[in-house]
Amino acid sequence: MGIRITGIGSYAPDRILTNQDLEKMVETSDDWITTRTGIKERRIAKDDETTSDMGTNAARKAMEMAGVAPDEIDLIVFATITADTRLPSAACHTQRKLNIRSSAACFDFQAACSGTVYGIEIVTAMMKCSRSYKKAILIGCERLSSVTDWTDRNSCVLFGDGAASFVFEKTKEPGDTLLSSIIKADGAESEILCIPGGGTQTPITPENYDKKLQFLKMEGNKVFKLAVNAMVNTSNEAIDLARLKSSDINWLIPHQANMRIINAIGTRLGISNDRVITNLSKYGNTSAASIGIALDEAVRSGKVKKGDLLLLTAFGGGMTWGSSILRW
Ligand code: COA
Repeated sequence: MGIRITGIGSYAPDRILTNQDLEKMVETSDDWITTRTGIKERRIAKDDETTSDMGTNAARKAMEMAGVAPDEIDLIVFATITADTRLPSAACHTQRKLNIRSSAACFDFQAACSGTVYGIEIVTAMMKCSRSYKKAILIGCERLSSVTDWTDRNSCVLFGDGAASFVFEKTKEPGDTLLSSIIKADGAESEILCIPGGGTQTPITPENYDKKLQFLKMEGNKVFKLAVNAMVNTSNEAIDLARLKSSDINWLIPHQANMRIINAIGTRLGISNDRVITNLSKYGNTSAASIGIALDEAVRSGKVKKGDLLLLTAFGGGMTWGSSILRW
């Protein structure tokens, strides 16, 4: 028996917000954003477009690639920090929109930008341990525009909206898509990247709303330093666990947050730029969706081929981070 990823899909809203547009909104410049981050533009959801709308679009494409019908899906796992509602989950909203049968298990989890790397381990482990799940969907999707303070130049230039989805199937033949996975977290550093308001700790009152506590806050340079070391370390651990060398990796697909972070990881792992997949310039940081969107584009363009060895690595709020090795 094996657990294989048999389909992938992604979705990004049509509305494009360029660096030039941002120049009119806050004190910034295309040159600053491009040289400090590598981002040129990002996508922004329509006002009435929810997280599960975007996730549903991505999942439809992944199911189409896998040739899987809605009534075959028995598990939906949804990684997001920007669910449509606090109750029910974005996974349940998606189930309804996809007409997936009522017996499927559906839940959300959040590991911020590490959502895809966490999710691939979660779904693979659940399918291995339980006879209940034969076909599953993982969705990583964010509507970060709804938690962005559009007057804060430190953060508003970085983020975008988007979704990605994977179909997992239990196969008779042995061999999993996931060869190794390391996921980690450190709650001690949580304040350097967080949304302080809106939960039980700091509910949204008129006063807290005026203090803008409903928006994402980040100390970018602190995050930057932690991110590089964390992703390099778990990548090396995942490579060792899969009994590989970094020279065996066909493609590094890192979380798309900052080009300087991506370059530093590639250099430290000895993976040259021509083996690194990036699309950050077009989408910005889409958090839980970013690795999936980049991988989907690389698969559909023919860059990533069946059998290729992939290293995924991510770092995000929590702090959470991790790396996984896939045989595509
Ligand atoms: N336009 C122009 N200037 C800006 C700016 C903007 N959009 N944002 C910040 N600045 C200014 C700052 O105010 C600061 O000015 P000062 O020196 O006068 O105080 C200066 O640029 C440098 O700021 P700093 O935060 O030190 O820049 P940086 O080189 O660390 O780059 C980030 C900032 C956010 C791009 C970078 O730290 C980063 O990408 N961090 C990691 C982000 C990340 O990975 N987050 C998610 C993990 S999920």
